[in-house]
Amino acid sequence: MCGIVGYAGRRDAAPVLLGGLQKLEYRGYDSAGVAVFEGGSLHIVRKKGRVKELAEALSLKGNVGVGHTRWATHGAPSERNAHPHTYGKFTLVHNGIIENALALKEECIARGEKFSSDTDTEVIAHLISWFYNGDFAVAVRAAAKRLAGSYALAVLCADFPDAIVCVRMKSPLIVGKGADGAYVASDLPAIAGEGVEAYALEDGDIAILRAEELSLYDGDLRPVKREKMQYSCREDAPELCGFRHFMKKEMAEIPVALRRAPLSAEGGNDGLAEALCRAEFIEIVACGTAYHAGLCAKHAFEGLCRVPTEVTVASEYRYRDPIVPRRTLCIAVSQSGETADTLAAAQLARERGAYLAAVTNVAYSSLTRMADAVLFTQAGREIAVAATKSFNAQLTVLYGLAARRAAALGIAAPPLEGLSVAAEGALAAAEGVRSWTPHFLSGKSVFFLGRGADYCTALEGSLKLKEITYLPSEGYPAGELKHGTLALIEKNTPVVAVVTQAALAEKTMNAVHEVYARGAKVFLVTSFAELARREEVTAAVVLPPCPEEYSPAVAVIPLQALAYYVAVARGNDPDKPRNLAKSVTVE
Ligand code: G6P
Repeated sequence: MCGIVGYAGRRDAAPVLLGGLQKLEYRGYDSAGVAVFEGGSLHIVRKKGRVKELAEALSLKGNVGVGHTRWATHGAPSERNAHPHTYGKFTLVHNGIIENALALKEECIARGEKFSSDTDTEVIAHLISWFYNGDFAVAVRAAAKRLAGSYALAVLCADFPDAIVCVRMKSPLIVGKGADGAYVASDLPAIAGEGVEAYALEDGDIAILRAEELSLYDGDLRPVKREKMQYSCREDAPELCGFRHFMKKEMAEIPVALRRAPLSAEGGNDGLAEALCRAEFIEIVACGTAYHAGLCAKHAFEGLCRVPTEVTVASEYRYRDPIVPRRTLCIAVSQSGETADTLAAAQLARERGAYLAAVTNVAYSSLTRMADAVLFTQAGREIAVAATKSFNAQLTVLYGLAARRAAALGIAAPPLEGLSVAAEGALAAAEGVRSWTPHFLSGKSVFFLGRGADYCTALEGSLKLKEITYLPSEGYPAGELKHGTLALIEKNTPVVAVVTQAALAEKTMNAVHEVYARGAKVFLVTSFAELARREEVTAAVVLPPCPEEYSPAVAVIPLQALAYYVAVARGNDPDKPRNLAKSVTVE
């Protein structure tokens, strides 16, 4: 993961780099660093911790530099391992993973070279040095050809203090040209505020940045043109708008996201409409919260329109030699559209004959460029690492697809339009979970139970809680409880049950009885007010009316709120949980 930035222009580079890095912190934030040429000599500031620790770099006066915010893969988060890394005349920042780093490092050591970090990145600086004979870009290209894995690089050379050379392979990299110079960053928002004309580099592309020009080349250093990215500056500067955390703000935006999302589900192109109606099999690939959205959608695709649907964690799909039956519609779900495993799984399904539809929140992402058709969730930019509104919006778009397929079969699916109002009601009701937090502060394991689609909601509730509160937590099918997990229930163990499916309600309540009988404290999220009054229930949120088929999009809201309030009560930053990042651009 990690985020990289670079600037070569006429302004002071340090504030540009730090501003960009702050916008990239969603990609990792365990250490950070910048390097700026000041009158021909390079100054490097590196710190463990967040970008704000780099404030001293603001005193650097120079117009060319690069920066990095890290999510550690090779080597512990520390100043020693923070980027930029230097060897000889070369200093660079890197996003990605070099898979043959060990073998390359051994080669360098055999030549007598010494290493000063535990990272896979440093070897790239050694390689560039080895290949350098006076031509900066040629040396970067030669080194890149030796690398296996993924990389987006921004490189400085002591002999060319006016230039940055960039190259990418399987890690995103955006370059831009503005009135005062040239920019590079892992993601558009880091440079969009500068009013640049931006271009997404393709695999193997090399870019040379100078104050006066931005030059793009292919992997053989032949000049290339790349399509100018269309974007709106409005989206590039997310503000808290009075909220204490982005997670809370983004939850408050769920109703708006749900109002916009059905429009996407109706849209799309003719190819998608045909693939959707002809599909004999649907394969959903995704990671994390997006995977849970896929699990919820499976219930709608199978329940509403009887299309067999599989949902596979992308990191499993890509390595399991998957069977892609004829007329497969593969739906890759990804908020960022940059998750490395999701991209690889989607690519594989497509190569094996599937029609690839992307459900994503980012219009200019790698996934959108790869897909046959794209459905934008239109949830607006999401900053908090724990996904909230994007999940609700993904569900709405996926439900919209299921409803479209059902309509083609002559089956009337419930309308999606009311979901936004139901979400508003759920948000208001979710404020009640604030009073549940004392029961979740003991450090005990937490269990989330449900059946059918409620089980999928339970999985997402559990993921939210564990990622920002650090409490051990498990989402479990209510009926499976007695095959093992019941052994973990003891006095005051918090158990959250989700009950929105009428036919399964009493079945889930059986599990509630069983955990209650063993001393658990039961918290209920339900559409059925009468269940909330049962003696086993310590506290409950009663959801507003919502079609059962779509209930996860609403029922998850109190669970998101629970995770948020418990995280805050435990003193955690819910927007930036430890060891995690918003966008996982490495395997
Ligand atoms: C990370 C994030 C999650 C997200 C997952 C998939 O783990 O922390 O919030 O659900 O990646 O990300 P994507 O962008 O593909 O939806």
